[in-house]
Amino acid sequence: MGAASRDHWFEDVADHLGSAYLRYSFTKGTRQEVDFLIPALGLEPGMRVLDVGCGPGRHAYVLAERGIRVHGIDVSRRFVDLANDGAPAGATFERLDARHLPFDSEFDAAICLCQGAFGLMTADGHDATVIAGIRRALRPAGRVALSAFNSYFVMKHWEGADFDPDTGVNHERTEIRNEAGEAVETSLWTGCYTPRELRLLCAAHDLAVDSISSVEPGAYRFEPPTADTAEFLLLATRQS
Ligand SMILES: C[S@@+](CC[C@H](N)C(=O)[O-])C[C@H]1O[C@@H](n2cnc3c(N)ncnc32)[C@H](O)[C@@H]1O
Repeated sequence: MGAASRDHWFEDVADHLGSAYLRYSFTKGTRQEVDFLIPALGLEPGMRVLDVGCGPGRHAYVLAERGIRVHGIDVSRRFVDLANDGAPAGATFERLDARHLPFDSEFDAAICLCQGAFGLMTADGHDATVIAGIRRALRPAGRVALSAFNSYFVMKHWEGADFDPDTGVNHERTEIRNEAGEAVETSLWTGCYTPRELRLLCAAHDLAVDSISSVEPGAYRFEPPTADTAEFLLLATRQS
C-alpha cells in the first residue's frame, strides 16, 4: 500500500476495487439516504451541492436525477473516472484532495458520507482540515451532512477491533475483491468519533450542530445517538 506518488492510501484500495466497490452491501441504500437528506438539508432543484469523497458518485447521481446540481470530488482518479463515465446532467466530478478544497462560499450544501475523506485517516489533524475546507465551501447558512464512524460501536460490538484508544483510529485488515473477483488483503484506518467530539469540532469551525443521529447505511433517520449503530450522521449549518 501507499506508493510514493500517492496522496492517500485509499487510492490503491480504489484502484483494485474499481466498480466492484458498488457491490458492497453498504452502498445499496443510496436512494434512501438521498431521500432522507433532501428534506433534512432543505435541498431544492437548482441548488448546488459539494460531495466530498464522492467515490464513484452514487449519491451525486441520485441528487442530480432530482434536479440538484452536484460537484463531486475524490482523491481517487479511478473513482473519479468511474463517476464521470455516464454521469447524468447536473453531476460533475474532479480529482481533488479534500485536505486542499479550493471552494469559497459556493455551495448550498455539502455531503461527506460513508467516510468520504472525513475519517479515512492519514495523520492526526486532517479531519479538522477537511471540516474547515467544507465550511469555507458553503455559503453562509449553507448546510452539511457528514457521517462518522461511532467509537462506542467499535468498542462495544466489534470483536477483535484494532482500536487505538489514544487516537480513536481503528485499523482493519480486510480482503477486497476487484471486478474479476481477485482478492488482495489491505489495511483500512478509520477515525472514530463520539457525538461530543463532533460537537467540539463543529464549534471550532463555526458550524452550528443541527442534529447528530445514530444511523446505518440505507437507514438514515433522526434518532438519538446510541452505542449500537456503526455510524453517526451529523447535520450542521455554517453560522457566518
Ligand atoms: C468509503 S468511500 C465513500 C465514497 C462515497 N462517499 C460513498 O458514500 O460511497 C471513501 C472515499 O473517500 C475518498 N477519500 C478519502 N480521503 C480523501 C481525501 N483526502 N480527499 C478526497 N477524497 C478522499 C476515497 O478515495 C473514497 O472514494
